Amino acid sequence: MSDVPGSPAMPPLRGRRRELRRLDLLLREIRRGGRVLVLRGEAGSGKTTLLDHLTVRATLGRVVRTAAVPSESGIAYAGLQHLCAPLLYHLDRLPGPEQAALATAFGLRHGPVPGVGATGRALLGLLDAAAGPEPLLCVVDDVQWLDRVSGDLLTFVAHRLGEIPVGLVVAVRSPGDGATLAGLPELRVGGLAADDARALLDDVVWWPLDNDVRERIVVASRGNPLALVEWPRAGLFPYNVP
Ligand SMILES: Nc1ncnc2c1ncn2[C@@H]1O[C@H](COP(=O)(O)OP(=O)(O)O)[C@@H](O)[C@H]1O
Ligand SMILES: [Mg+2]
Repeated sequence: MSDVPGSPAMPPLRGRRRELRRLDLLLREIRRGGRVLVLRGEAGSGKTTLLDHLTVRATLGRVVRTAAVPSESGIAYAGLQHLCAPLLYHLDRLPGPEQAALATAFGLRHGPVPGVGATGRALLGLLDAAAGPEPLLCVVDDVQWLDRVSGDLLTFVAHRLGEIPVGLVVAVRSPGDGATLAGLPELRVGGLAADDARALLDDVVWWPLDNDVRERIVVASRGNPLALVEWPRAGLFPYNVP
């Protein structure tokens, strides 16, 4: 049995008890005020998977989620526009200047593009309006591809949530631009422990695995889940084990 069972939409999760405890704590705490968490880890370490489990475990309030993509990293505001699209029907509850700032930033209205401070304050107002009495969870994956201004705005908002019942959980690849979202609470997503890595390997390998081979793969993968699940899928087994 895996540690967290899967579903048709999500494969079972191996290990990650500490990480899930941290995410569950955040979900409890956002009922009382803003909380931020930055998941940092190398490609394939399991950040997106943890975000998937976070959103399933968020049973109160609502969740908005987006993932930045390389093709939009040069388009100002693109990332935040995706994140906020489901919240924009709250726009008319904001004071006029804040409505104008966001509408202009998101290309809904013509006019001079406001600075990060004005847009950031408007964004805080929008999140506040959208959260209401129930918490709002905002999830942004692949922040390494977020356009620059969306990154600046997220950082601005992350430092000023205060009592607004909003959870902001983002995932960013490391090593990378350490300045993005620097100074915010972090959760390092490292390799799986050896036992969990072995178990994950056994989940994905469909032939009997020699113990010695299993150990060599576990060591070579450094517990990186993507390396563990891709090896057999790539047809490299059992020949190319280092
Ligand atoms: N704890 C885990 N247990 C089982 N499979 C995992 C675990 N973490 C990640 N995976 C699998 O490893 C692969 C890479 O994970 P992913 O979350 O996409 O990594 P990242 O977002 O850090 O690049 C996916 O196929 C995912 O299903
Ligand atoms: Mg990912």
